[in-house]
Amino acid sequence: MIPLFGVAMSPAAPAAAAEVLGSGRIGQGAKVDEFEAALAARIGNPRVATLNSATAGLQLALHLVAGSTGDGDDGEGEVLSTPLTMEATNWAILANRLRIRWVDIDPATLNIDLDDLARKISPRTRAIMVVHFAGYAVDLDRLGQILDEAEARFGFRPVVIEDSAHAWGATYRGRPLGTHGNVSVFSFQAIKHLTSGDGGAIVLPDDELYRRARLLRWFGIDRTADRLRNPPDVPEWGFKFHMNDINAAVGLANLAGVDDVLARHRDNAAFYDRELAGTPGLELTERAGDRESSFWIYPMKVEDRESFMKRMDDAGIMVSNVHERNDLHTCVREYSALLPNLERVAPQIVCVPVGSWVTDEQREHIVASIKKGW
Ligand SMILES: Cc1ncc(COP(=O)(O)O)c(C=O)c1O
Repeated sequence: MIPLFGVAMSPAAPAAAAEVLGSGRIGQGAKVDEFEAALAARIGNPRVATLNSATAGLQLALHLVAGSTGDGDDGEGEVLSTPLTMEATNWAILANRLRIRWVDIDPATLNIDLDDLARKISPRTRAIMVVHFAGYAVDLDRLGQILDEAEARFGFRPVVIEDSAHAWGATYRGRPLGTHGNVSVFSFQAIKHLTSGDGGAIVLPDDELYRRARLLRWFGIDRTADRLRNPPDVPEWGFKFHMNDINAAVGLANLAGVDDVLARHRDNAAFYDRELAGTPGLELTERAGDRESSFWIYPMKVEDRESFMKRMDDAGIMVSNVHERNDLHTCVREYSALLPNLERVAPQIVCVPVGSWVTDEQREHIVASIKKGW
């Protein structure tokens, strides 16, 4: 079976982890600082705080910008979000005791539909969650215009949280994600382009949010203070979301090779783009010239997904839709909404293997197997 996912582990990672394990200091320390500095240099934003997952990052992001501690919110606060994502995106809203308002998807990109988003912003909107699905950036300039209009109309500007879990290395208008004025959250979970085993990072647009993120990832306690002689006060309580040096060492080792990993995802995707364009019964997603996808996955829309999946299975190729629509789960039944694009497109979405482990021979076999069916 050609796998749909792989682990991009550097041969240098075991020794890097072993060094930390034997050092007597395995918590959050110098390796975390080093990893953060390296990430900040890559992203082009110095305000990077590592965490133990993107899930923690999304929960922290919403807590920072819109969070209710349970006592301040009127129970009416809404977060506008896409249902086509990993549940981590949307359960972060529930964890912050905010309400979900579903926004439809754009069938061309599988990202949030910005027209539907513009229609749904209201005085109740506390924040907006967008996902760069597959690593293909949301049109952030158009989103900025929508926020300008909302600000003019309602007198406030909702904060945007970019779920960049799929999108390490992706760019919009020539700049990496994490530099477009929003809060952005990356994942370094096992099967991402860049893995630290498990881990994530929150990237902040201003110094005050960055300061709070660094404090709230570890109970709100200032780790730089002299905790023995002069224990610091905790003005704002926080979580236990920090990264440790073991994960940071693995992340650092993998960061050294991540550009090659990313390049191979992109090369495989470019091959599929060329070979599959115009194949009847199959539609590829949008490619705009102003953004470069990270192609964490390669989604497409097929007319008869059942038989497509069966044929791929017979050909030894693992395929799947990767994320189930979130809005049909029982725990979010009360937020149910009419989402016509999602309704039509969700049953057509399927992803084929595109990652760095897919060889030239395998990608040719994948294309031939897809084309044979039509
Ligand atoms: C879109 C999206 N958001 C968030 C997450 C959660 O990431 P993590 O496993 O690092 O918590 C994932 C994980 O795959 C994801 O795909």
